[in-house]
Amino acid sequence: MSRFWSPVVQTLTPYVPGEQPQMERLVKLNTNESPYGPSPKALAAINQQNTDDLRLYPDPEGLALKKAIADLHGLDPKQVFLGNGSDEVLAHVFLGLLKQAKAIQFPDITYSFYPVYCKLFGIDYQTVPLGPDCEIQTENFKAPNGGIIFPNPNAPTGRAIPRSDIEALLSRNTESVVVIDEAYVDYGTESCIPLLRGSTCPENLLVVHTLSKSRALAGLRVGFAVGHPALIEGLERVKNSFNSYPLGRLAQAGAIAAIQDQAHLESTSKKVIQTRERLVSELASLGFDTLPSTANFIFTRHPKHAGAKLYQALRDRGIIVRHFKSPRIEEFLRITIGTDDQTNELIAALKEILASA
Ligand SMILES: Cc1ncc(COP(=O)(O)O)c(C=O)c1O
Repeated sequence: MSRFWSPVVQTLTPYVPGEQPQMERLVKLNTNESPYGPSPKALAAINQQNTDDLRLYPDPEGLALKKAIADLHGLDPKQVFLGNGSDEVLAHVFLGLLKQAKAIQFPDITYSFYPVYCKLFGIDYQTVPLGPDCEIQTENFKAPNGGIIFPNPNAPTGRAIPRSDIEALLSRNTESVVVIDEAYVDYGTESCIPLLRGSTCPENLLVVHTLSKSRALAGLRVGFAVGHPALIEGLERVKNSFNSYPLGRLAQAGAIAAIQDQAHLESTSKKVIQTRERLVSELASLGFDTLPSTANFIFTRHPKHAGAKLYQALRDRGIIVRHFKSPRIEEFLRITIGTDDQTNELIAALKEILASA
């Protein structure tokens, strides 16, 4: 605390990112990173960057990367906005599109950064309760509102809703922006990006993606949003009032090659999905209840063992998962899907913990 802090800083409760521990032998299943490396083509593109060019600023618009993303998704580059990780994209979305006179709406259990942005930018919000099985019920998002945002699949639950539910929501909610955060879409969820193609692109739908998960580039910090060119223009106005160069040369080069290597994304996502299904069935045989997940993580609880205790017991064995001390979800563990070997270690540790409890 310092008397020089501005009044807004004194009121903030910052987001707490998942731990990045420096322990030596560690099974790290807490921040939903990919257990497999990025595309070798992305690594080669980064290595091939002429380091002498680093004395020069990067392209502030990231046009080549916008084009690569637009080509992949059948969009126009004017429909693409880039940021330093999707957290930065989301920050610009909150300030540029969701800061309205009316309160915005998001689920009561969701990505915990959303209320943090609201506090930072002075945005009123209402939370919309999830259904009894932690599912998003789009009919409970009611107009009028200043905007709607949720991840699909939701985090930390991993539960997804079909694209048709979002289309129905859009048809009811025409007077504010609907933002779908598709950070985990590549593990079996229907994307809303096809709705943005061509002349029928809704003027109020924005879809946010990251290269941190399925493209295994969390360390490079690249995210993007796609939507109607007029929404993107608004985001560019915010970005160019904040930081003109959010993506460095290495990030742009690596991201272009990663976006162009769809085969790598598909093969690694497939492996994650297979391991997820195995983990869910092994956990069921140990008595865990796991929510249906189409993400690269699962949300699971044991009826007889407290979430906090399981978290600590795993940690004592060098296995780090995520535990949230929030009401309604404190009995759950959020476990990132790792390699098959990491999954075997996790199962063995849980068997030992349950046997000794
Ligand atoms: C739902 C959701 N959205 C966005 C992000 C931000 O990802 P990044 O800033 O790495 O792109 C995360 C990260 O965990 C997330 O869970």
